[in-house]
Amino acid sequence: MLRTHKCGELTKNHNEQTVTVCGWVDSYRNHGNLIFIDLRDRYGLIQVVFDPSDNEAAHKLADTLRGEDVIQATGKVDLRRADLVNPKIASGEIEVRATDLNILNKAKLPPFTPTSGNVPNEELRLKYRYIDLRRPELQKALIMRHKLCQAVRNYFDAQDFVEVETPMLGKSTPEGARDYLVPSRVHPGAFYALPQSPQLYKQLLMVAGMDRYFQIARCFRDEDLRADRQPEFTQIDVEMSFVGQEDILTTIDGLVAHMVKSVRGTDIQLPLPRMTHAEALERYGNDKPDTRFGMELTDVGSIVKDSGFGVFKSCIENGGRVRGINAKGAADKYSRKNIDELTAFVGEYGAKGLAFFRVKEGKLDSPIAKFLDDDKQQALIQKMGGENGDLLFFVADQPKVTSAALASLRLRLGKELKLYDPMEMKPLWVLDFPLYGWDAEENRWSAEHHPFCNPNSEDLGYFETDPGKIRAQSYDLVCNGYECASGSVRVHDPVVQQKIFDFIGLKSEEAELKFGFLLNALRFGAPPHAGIALGLDRWVMLFLANDNIRDVIAFPKTQKASDLMTEAPSTVDAKQLRELHIKCDLPVE
Ligand code: AMO
Ligand code: AMP
Repeated sequence: MLRTHKCGELTKNHNEQTVTVCGWVDSYRNHGNLIFIDLRDRYGLIQVVFDPSDNEAAHKLADTLRGEDVIQATGKVDLRRADLVNPKIASGEIEVRATDLNILNKAKLPPFTPTSGNVPNEELRLKYRYIDLRRPELQKALIMRHKLCQAVRNYFDAQDFVEVETPMLGKSTPEGARDYLVPSRVHPGAFYALPQSPQLYKQLLMVAGMDRYFQIARCFRDEDLRADRQPEFTQIDVEMSFVGQEDILTTIDGLVAHMVKSVRGTDIQLPLPRMTHAEALERYGNDKPDTRFGMELTDVGSIVKDSGFGVFKSCIENGGRVRGINAKGAADKYSRKNIDELTAFVGEYGAKGLAFFRVKEGKLDSPIAKFLDDDKQQALIQKMGGENGDLLFFVADQPKVTSAALASLRLRLGKELKLYDPMEMKPLWVLDFPLYGWDAEENRWSAEHHPFCNPNSEDLGYFETDPGKIRAQSYDLVCNGYECASGSVRVHDPVVQQKIFDFIGLKSEEAELKFGFLLNALRFGAPPHAGIALGLDRWVMLFLANDNIRDVIAFPKTQKASDLMTEAPSTVDAKQLRELHIKCDLPVE
């Protein structure tokens, strides 16, 4: 070992001991005769002092040190003078009085200093990711990610689950995104697909009798990226045999409690709350509600339908809805200009306008208040739970637009008005999703989750009459506005599975070609089974209250799916392409 101790490990208990520490020069101060170095490693910082009277040569060498040089220093641990104690760092009461210095590696002037509070733009950080990863925040994220994986493995191991690795080179899985394809050299013109999830393999493992499976699995999806999506990401993937929906919910409740306990050290109340999909849409406007704060959506159609305000009245007459939210106590916090910005913001979600009223002296105050008589004003205030000082917002539009616009406005106001503690975690289950949605582009019904999801047995009659009403035996786990797990009870009867393929317009030959192996496997004795997958990256984000997925992945891709450090994707040799039977001369669309 090149060291006796780690930098962050030393405390005043080591006083008077001779130690050797190694690390990166975090900061450097030359106070005339004395040179002070903050030395950094993964475990923390330690101050190393070079005094010419301790060792003149070491002091001279220390004078050449610069940020990010890698050094080894030996010396005696000493208590700092009371006025020099730094309560901000763990080793702030001590320092090492160096008697020896060995420069292990000089560093070029780094493009940025990887210390907290000094973060350059993300492009530069990603190009020099190995320097960025020296920042304590990012190291904390990776360590938490590791701890979370450990907790997950311990939990499942204790309950007889077996971690099984499924292939990376496989056949396309229908999770709805584009596949990343890998050309085959030995089968000209044929391609593997990287897994969008291990969905089909885990179902086959149930047919194989593995009974309880989990995997911390890498998944690949070529889809439009957002702050919470990466082209390669990690799932905690789970499947169980001889179980129904309730068993999965209970098992995952236990997992969530175990993760929270392992990472935060706190208890979470079980069972986790549950809400139907319809209720989530009605109360929060979307299917992944952030329940850390209220400000729920309220329908005021019955009050405004015969009012003098034409926008509201005609909206209801045309089958639309008028819904609103109450920003409590915010009447003076939003100027006219701010409200214009909010109007433009809801416009991005299709809203044609944003009506607003301040509640003042028990009445509504707004340019459009004159269109509502006293009775209507009082009814609105009452329905919205309005009090003096509140600011009420309304959107009149088709139901979907009111949901999308108000859900987004609610999230924005909740954040701006600081209505919740960013560290708080409020997980809940959203149940009873519709099984099918109408695909207007393709003019057919399509599976909302994936085509292996079992219909609710009470709803089978709707197949002929009203397929949009069929509820799926599926469930999402939502936390703080993120969808952080999703799963379903699977179809285990090959006849039903075939019926579903028929229903969503997947022709028999096509179904056979794509999923023949699954249909076949179901014919050879498939147990009833169900499963779920949790988005590991999103859980790490939640635990850290960080809303950038790239901050919880060691080597992430940009929004454009490129790696700025290695410059992937890149062109390859003509020879490689020839071996793969690939020609790249189609024009870019
Ligand atoms: P689903 O497609 O809903 O279900 O994915 C499960 C969970 O994975 C996370 N997730 C992502 N995280 C980061 N980047 C992405 N691009 C991304 N896409 C998904 C989400 C999501 O809830 N096979 C099914 C699961 C099952 O039915 O068992 C599946 O993959 O947190
Ligand atoms: P206008 O009649 O277009 O001048 O709009 C008068 C007020 O009603 C403005 O504050 C608009 O933002 C608001 N408004 C217009 N259309 C809608 C709508 N569909 N929903 C809610 N408010 C609207």
